[in-house]
Amino acid sequence: MWGGRFAAGPSALMREINASIGFDKRLWRQDLRASRAHVAMLAAQGIVSREDAAAIGEGLDRIAAEYGREGVPEDPALEDIHMHVEHRLADLIGPAAGRLHTARSRNDQVATDFRLWVRDAIDDVMAGLDSLQRALVGRAEEHAEAVMPGFTHLQVAQPVTLGHHFMAYYEMLRRDVSRFADARARLNRCPLGAAALAGTSFPIDRDTTASALGFDGPTANSLDSVSDRDFALDYLMAATQCALHLSRLAEEFILWASQPYGFVSLPDAYSTGSSIMPQKRNPDAAELVRGHSGRIAGAMTSLVVTMKGLPLAYSKDMQDDKPPAFEAHDLLALSIAAMTGMVDTTTFNADRMRAAAETGHSTATDLADWLVRVAGIPFRQAHHITGRAVRLAEDRDARLWELSLDDLQGIDSRIDASVFDVLSVDASVRSRISHGGTAPEAVRARIEEAKAALEMDR
Ligand code: ARG
Repeated sequence: MWGGRFAAGPSALMREINASIGFDKRLWRQDLRASRAHVAMLAAQGIVSREDAAAIGEGLDRIAAEYGREGVPEDPALEDIHMHVEHRLADLIGPAAGRLHTARSRNDQVATDFRLWVRDAIDDVMAGLDSLQRALVGRAEEHAEAVMPGFTHLQVAQPVTLGHHFMAYYEMLRRDVSRFADARARLNRCPLGAAALAGTSFPIDRDTTASALGFDGPTANSLDSVSDRDFALDYLMAATQCALHLSRLAEEFILWASQPYGFVSLPDAYSTGSSIMPQKRNPDAAELVRGHSGRIAGAMTSLVVTMKGLPLAYSKDMQDDKPPAFEAHDLLALSIAAMTGMVDTTTFNADRMRAAAETGHSTATDLADWLVRVAGIPFRQAHHITGRAVRLAEDRDARLWELSLDDLQGIDSRIDASVFDVLSVDASVRSRISHGGTAPEAVRARIEEAKAALEMDR
């Protein structure tokens, strides 16, 4: 490609370190699409002839068919996907192929291809998150009344419902979706036509190529266009946050499936056995979702460090932007699909969950609240009285609601029999009707909003 300037070819080592075809072949669809838009614009502007543009367009179509059929061939001497396409085009149509690269550089070309790819990746993730959210909302509705322990410090704290727990993850994913949508909106400007770094002297029409490629318009500064990868980082950062949410959900499944919990039975489809312990059933898929989140965060960090301190404009370091984005995307898409499958198909052991919710004097706060509400006692004092009741229950190896009225009145004479109405886990859950609370009616109201937002009834 640059034989005019060079007397000798690159060493084998130079070829090896320089070649990106091994991974950037993944951009072939985007590369061909951008080239089609570019050559159509060049023809419309009278920069290349209609005949040459038609030959180039047909050649690009043939390459698309070849790559679709046989995959992209890898020739390290041709460095990257852009040169592979151009080289093949020359084989197919002859010297007219050389006109395609008028008024463009690989710098704006790769920036365009990669933006197109990241945009597709975002759309793919958003579709996956839509399915996962639907799964969560569906299970939440099914288990809106199912009582389970709510934890703080992984200690039983207050009863909640499984529906509420699922909806917590729905909220997290909703924010993830909005982060991806933000990233997409910012990304959607077309760098094509920035050329190597300074723009071009040819009378190109950047609005036309931008709109042909589905962008909202061209980017505003040629130096910025070829040298920033913030669009990929926006994606990777959103992906990292999303992976962290998935990892936490995966961890819940791992804990819930552990025998001392026994809250769930994971489906065979998402479990593995052990080669030595015949009884084992391991939550490998969930563990790998948890593990993959580390690799996704690592991919994000990798591109952060690559970009840090690079002067304007393009530097070859930036070729290393693609492997982390590809890796993170594959891992994230797989993780989303695996979690969707697990959420959809796991069986919940409602009795075990309820029994666990009844441990740890989980309705102690309800007793304290009753003392405040009914007996008019200041909360701090109510807390103290309740603490004594818990201690008595503990000494007797009993639940709070198993203490007699005499026992309770022995602690504080202002307590009457109506206190027993608030001490059960069901009563506790039903009473938490504040906005965003765990009461089934409050959760159902949120589920309805979620279903409308996801258009689940359609
Ligand atoms: N393969 C290169 C990359 O991915 C394309 C851009 C090459 N530009 C250059 N000036 N050598 O970044």
